[in-house]
Amino acid sequence: MTQIHPEMHERRILGTELLWAFGVGVFIAATLSLVIFTALTMGMNPPSNVERIDPKTLHLSGEFAEHNLGTTVEADGTVTARVIATQFMFVPGCIAVPRGRPVTLRFASPDVIHGLLVTGTNVNTMVIPGYVSQVHTEFQKTGDLLMPCHEYCGLGHSEMWATVQVIPDNEMKPDPQGRISCVQR
Ligand code: CUA
Repeated sequence: MTQIHPEMHERRILGTELLWAFGVGVFIAATLSLVIFTALTMGMNPPSNVERIDPKTLHLSGEFAEHNLGTTVEADGTVTARVIATQFMFVPGCIAVPRGRPVTLRFASPDVIHGLLVTGTNVNTMVIPGYVSQVHTEFQKTGDLLMPCHEYCGLGHSEMWATVQVIPDNEMKPDPQGRISCVQR
């Protein structure tokens, strides 16, 4: 039987350790680069908006009262859509938004935690009672997009979804209150 010299043994251990450290270092660097890259090029950021709202009274007055829900073109031209996520629907069930313009989406929940995403976009957030969830985005293509609830919120969870109708900017015809609604096709 051949005996390995203790010094050789040490060196082999050190070599393996350095190899693993290098591998892990490359992995962490790649992960961080991907996070930074998607943040800069695709607008994928963790939600940073901290805004409180009383879930018991949000439907009575203020921006989430029924007549304020849906999409509004504000006086300065900015587009904001306000949606309530509740067991087991989004109100309104269809949101019309213009293509190629910055849009702010604002969500609130009066009951339990919901979540949502809009397929093929950077829109993906939780909706937690007590807070307003806000997402900035720009829709690139016209058409109907699916917006499902993606956080288990009860027995009707799988039936909870809405449609985002992306329309050409020049077809956007806000009413005198600046509101735009989905058109039936
Ligand atoms: Cu709301 Cu799942």
